[in-house]
Amino acid sequence: MDNNNHKQRIFSGVQPTGNLHLGNYLGAVKNFVKFQSAGNETLYCIVDLHAITVWQNPLELKKSIRELAATFIACGLDSEKSILFNQSQVSSHSELAWVFNCVTRMGWLNRMTQFKDKAGKNRENASVGLFVYPSLMAADILAYHATHVPVGDDQKQHLELTRDIAIKFNNDFNVPNFFPCPEPIIEKNSPRIMSLRDGTKKMSKSETSDMSRINLTDNSDQIALKIRKAKTDQDPIPDAISGLETRPEAKNLINIYSSLEECKIQEVLDMFCGKPFSFFKPKLTELIINELKPISNQITKLLNHQDHIDKVLYNGSLQAKKISKPIIDKTYKILGLKNS
Ligand code: TYM
Repeated sequence: MDNNNHKQRIFSGVQPTGNLHLGNYLGAVKNFVKFQSAGNETLYCIVDLHAITVWQNPLELKKSIRELAATFIACGLDSEKSILFNQSQVSSHSELAWVFNCVTRMGWLNRMTQFKDKAGKNRENASVGLFVYPSLMAADILAYHATHVPVGDDQKQHLELTRDIAIKFNNDFNVPNFFPCPEPIIEKNSPRIMSLRDGTKKMSKSETSDMSRINLTDNSDQIALKIRKAKTDQDPIPDAISGLETRPEAKNLINIYSSLEECKIQEVLDMFCGKPFSFFKPKLTELIINELKPISNQITKLLNHQDHIDKVLYNGSLQAKKISKPIIDKTYKILGLKNS
């Protein structure tokens, strides 16, 4: 299946559940900004309906939605160039999610590793919403006929499912190429930023230790402390990438450096080979602070202007409705739910 008939359109989403961390930034949001500059049509969504698949305190959620909107803007997303909005304000997401719940097979959802990780051992007690989360995610993307989705590597399986749902819908209702098969766009240098405490686990908002991640709102002292305490090993920095293969923590710090500098991993190794991590860590700290300080300052400023943030989200939701409504109408027509 090709996306020839479909105009290139970029969509991505982030959950409003606490502060964004360096993994979200390097794996996703920094990339969002790049696409916006290339003159593409871009939609970036605060996926609040996804957040409620696990219980959220309503007051906290309201605050987190605004904070994420402020973070998007502080990272460089511009409401003149991109459509910025929150999912719950555009009913197309829920409408299409129900249709996709009827297309998606139980077996497909049973294979989703994120559900297994999040539900843990207590699967029977997980919400049904958490189980069908991937079909809502497919609806987010396909309600706009989006063709490209910038995400971190952890979302790859959900993107594959989205493609399967699109193909099954198109086949079941004999509408070839009605839904496009969206492509994930995964940043090469930072597909998965790992925990600072354990290089085999991804950096995550849900990890209990705050020392495992750099939050975008951390101050310079917190960043310096977290990098100083980041787990590494005794060996010096190697001269070749193969020398990092069995050293996940070392590899992670080198990856972060290369991603921030936007250079190849080999270039970082050429700069630091033979040096101990005690030499490398202060350089990395400086790089992180230089990148994040302007962002956290801007977040603080924006949060003093909540009316502005609310207006950006409201205008974004109107624009998002305008694109998705005709696609939902057409989907209902295909299903026999609507005459014209
Ligand atoms: P979420 O909110 O967990 O994460 C937002 C984005 O950050 C990426 N990411 C990472 N990238 C690199 N290293 C990490 N350690 C790391 N942690 C997170 C994620 O891959 C993601 O791109 N299901 C999605 C939200 C979503 C969505 C969508 C995304 C809902 N609908 C439609 C794209 C399109 C999620 O939970 O992301």
